[in-house]
Parts: sequence; C-alpha cells; structure tokens
Amino acid sequence: MRTQLSFAPLPQIETELLAVLATDTQADKSPDAKPQPVLLTADAAVKAAAATILASGEFKVGANETVLLHAPVGLAAKRLLLVGLGKQAKANANSVRNAAGTAVRFIKPRGIRELVLALPESDSKTLPHVASARAAVEGAFIGDFDSDTYRSERKDQSTESFTLAAPANADNAAIETAFAEGVIIGESQNFARSLVNEPGNKLTPTLLGQRAALMAAEVGLGWEVHSTEKLLELKMGAFWSVSQGSAEPPALIVLRYEPQGLSDGPILGLVGKGITFDSGGISIKPSDKMEEMKTDMAGGAAMLGAMRAIALLKPKVRVIAVICAAENMPSGTAQKPGDVQTAMPFSPDKPGKTIEIINTDAEGRLVLADGLTYARQLGATHLIDAATLTGACVVALGHINAGAFSNDEDAWAKFDAALAISGEKFWRLPLGDEYAELIKSDIGDIKNTGGRWGGATTAAEFLKVFVEDTPWIHLDIAGLAWAEDSKPYIAKGPSGVGVRSILEWVRSY
Ligand code: BES
Ligand code: MN
Ligand code: ZN
Repeated sequence: MRTQLSFAPLPQIETELLAVLATDTQADKSPDAKPQPVLLTADAAVKAAAATILASGEFKVGANETVLLHAPVGLAAKRLLLVGLGKQAKANANSVRNAAGTAVRFIKPRGIRELVLALPESDSKTLPHVASARAAVEGAFIGDFDSDTYRSERKDQSTESFTLAAPANADNAAIETAFAEGVIIGESQNFARSLVNEPGNKLTPTLLGQRAALMAAEVGLGWEVHSTEKLLELKMGAFWSVSQGSAEPPALIVLRYEPQGLSDGPILGLVGKGITFDSGGISIKPSDKMEEMKTDMAGGAAMLGAMRAIALLKPKVRVIAVICAAENMPSGTAQKPGDVQTAMPFSPDKPGKTIEIINTDAEGRLVLADGLTYARQLGATHLIDAATLTGACVVALGHINAGAFSNDEDAWAKFDAALAISGEKFWRLPLGDEYAELIKSDIGDIKNTGGRWGGATTAAEFLKVFVEDTPWIHLDIAGLAWAEDSKPYIAKGPSGVGVRSILEWVRSY
C-alpha cells in the first residue's frame, strides 16, 4: 500500500473515494432522541454534499457505520464515504484507527483501489491531530490485511494507495512525523499477523528463525538464531523438553537493538512464546479446533513485530528480544507426564530449578522459563513477555481483553500508559503467594500446572519464578491472537495483538 499525506483542500482532491468522519453530538440518551450527526470537517463543499443524507436520519453515525454517495456535487472525488465514530464524547484516536480500517475494508470488495481519508479537522483534546493521524494510517494498514494467502485463485484486493488529507490549520511537520510512525507501526503489526497466519508446516521453528533473521537484516537489527546445540550448551532443560518430541529442531531467536552511543540505562528484554504448533504433546489436545494451535507462536510474532518497529523508530533504549520456538508433539522421544526437567541456571555455579511435568500441554511456560532466564543473563533489566499461554485466561476475559500481570508498579504504570496510546485492551489480573503455593512440587521445586482454578495466574506465577526480582510484565494473549469473526475494520484471523502496546512500553523508557 502506497501512502501519502495531502494538504490540499478537500473539494479539489481527485480520487476514487473521499472518506470523511462524523460523530453523533446528541447528548440526550433517551430512546427516542435522534442521532445528531456532525461531520468532522468545516469544508463547506463537503458539508453541502452530505447535507441531504445527514438530514434524512438514515445515517445513525454509529461507530464504523458507513454511507456512500456517488458523484458528490462540488467535489472532485468520484465518491464520498461517511464513516461514523459513534458518540462525540467517546470518540478518540482509537475510533479514528477503526474508522480508517473500516474505510479500507469498505473499498476492497468493491474493486476500488485508492482512497483519501480526511483527518478530523478540530485539534481537540480527545481527537488531537497528531494521535489521530498516526492512528488513521495504522488503521488503514490493519484494514488492508487479509489472511487468504494460500487460495490458489486469490483475487488481490489490496489497496494500492492511501492518502491522509490534513486540514489547513494543522502543524504539518508534526503530522508528517506521526504519519511516518503510523506506516511503520501498521506494517509491523501486519508483519506479526502474517507470521501468525502461517500454518505449522510452512512455519516450523527453523523457518520462523529464518523469517526473523531476514527481517532483522532488513531493518538493521543484530540477530542470532540457534538450535539444539546451543540449548544444550546453555542447559535450557525446560525449553529443550518441549522440542524433544518433534522431528523439527527448536530455534532460539535473539534480536538486538542497540542505539548508537548508548551504553547505559535500562536494557529491555522482550521474550516471546514461539510454539509453531501445539498438539499438547503426550497430554494430547482434543482434535476439535486443534488446527488453531498453529497460532501458538503469536507471542513470539508480537515481539518480532515490535522489534521491527523499534528498529525503524529508533527509541533511545537498548532492547533484546528472545523468542523460544519449538513444536510441541507426541512421539517416542516426547517428554512424559511425571518427567522432571531442570531449567536453565541463571549463573553456571547455581543449579537450575527442577520442574515436575504434570501436563505436557503446559509447554509455553517451559520454553518461556528458559527464555526469561536467558534474557536476564544477556543483561535485561526489565522484562516483558507475550504468550498464548492459557485457556483459563480466555475463560476469564473472553476474546475482548487479553490478560496482563506484573510484579512491579512502575513497569505496570508505563504499560498502562502505553495502552492509552495503542488502543489495545489488556486487563490486569492478580499474582500472589497463595497462587504460588499451588505450583509447589512434591518431588522437585515446582510443577508445570497448578490445577484448573486460577489457571492464568498459576501460569504467571510459574514464570515469576524465573523472573526473580526483575521488573516484569506478562501478557497472556491466548484469547486475542486469532479472531473468529471479521469486524468492519479488521478481517478475521490473526490480530497482531500486543505489537503496538509492547512498542509503546519500550518507547516509554
Ligand atoms: N497454547 C495453549 C493455550 C491456548 C488455549 C492458546 C486456547 C490459545 C487458545 C497452552 O499451551 C495450553 O495448552 N495451555 C493449557 C494449560 C493447562 C494444561 C494447564 C490450557 O490452558 O489448557
Ligand atoms: Mn499447550
Ligand atoms: Zn501452547
């Protein structure tokens, strides 16, 4: 998708489709109060072209509701699309992100290949120009993504050109920066989605390592991809135990972002679960919906997407990403319930923690245990991990919010602030010693499941053992990595959840 900024007056812009946003200013909440649509432009020609349809009451201005006008009088555009943001009081940059996605998804099936979106004109507190401009571009990229890449007679409906039209009163330089950021972030989120979309046979741990290395080389990140030998050398007994049942070797992916001339301050460690397929192993999953377990590397993909954006946006902080990729399979060489594994030691003179394997399907925490330890050993002073970790988190929060945990209020405050920018929905869940009790083992240090109740938290408590005192955020994205249904602004399939929030969290250091 080609992108550009335009500062031309809206009526003069020649395009297949001009999209203009609208909000509902009706303050009366009673059921018979009619919506009061207001266009987010002061342009007289656009207002005149839309006047009749707005007066008709047909357009309710709900969020992502659309109405299309052909041959709008007084405009050079061939079509005028109005996109609702919902109630004025609730409209924010996230509504603009979604509305831009809606406009892109509106044109795709209609064979229209280009559009111009008018940035909301008034630079208000809730809809500031800069945040809206960035969100609009992100939303356009997000809306443009479709998952049917393996269809042999695929019709390419991708958008050729997206133009953001900035109002005359805007700060051009600030909008240009925000616009360029939006391109990077939107493309990085789609990069993560394209990885999550790949089936297990097309994206083995080795191939994920290759994709990561290719991306890293493209954007100028340092990278290393290791396999079995390195796992054994580092004594990554927990990570290795997951991969030992598969014919596919594991991949330990390490990416480094080191801004020039920066040799002190925090080092942020981004750790991702990269299970390219999770059959459950010997504790095998039921076959119903098992195909969805190709998405079990979405946490790793989110970290790769975030690292891509970090490399291009160049924040002044050092970042290391560690992605633990493996396939969880049942076989004669697979680990068994009852086995005891020894996790990677933090320092060579200290023994690693012993883990009793109760359920081989609780494999994500095993690979992350060694990934978190390794990130700390590489110097990470602050950690964030992302994983499609537990079904329990999906039971708790559904497909609406992802789960988040933290052992540190400062790190959490930064993440909470990041959410306000990213527009992603994460809900903080508790940690606590009473939960940690549930994963004590009779035979060793800890066991890899804490029973049915509080499953998202006992999984987080398991990870916390390996984080020790390092400030840490854990993201359980099991319920959001893959969308069952399409929305007006995003196709069903891989969501790329986490990329924007992780990036913002990094940028806040
Ligand atoms: N990858 C799954 C979690 C998952 C569930 C992701 C649904 C996406 C959608 C994870 O490895 C898993 O199997 N977790 C088990 C843990 C249990 C055995 C303690 C679970 O949640 O059932
Ligand atoms: Mn599993
Ligand atoms: Zn899993």
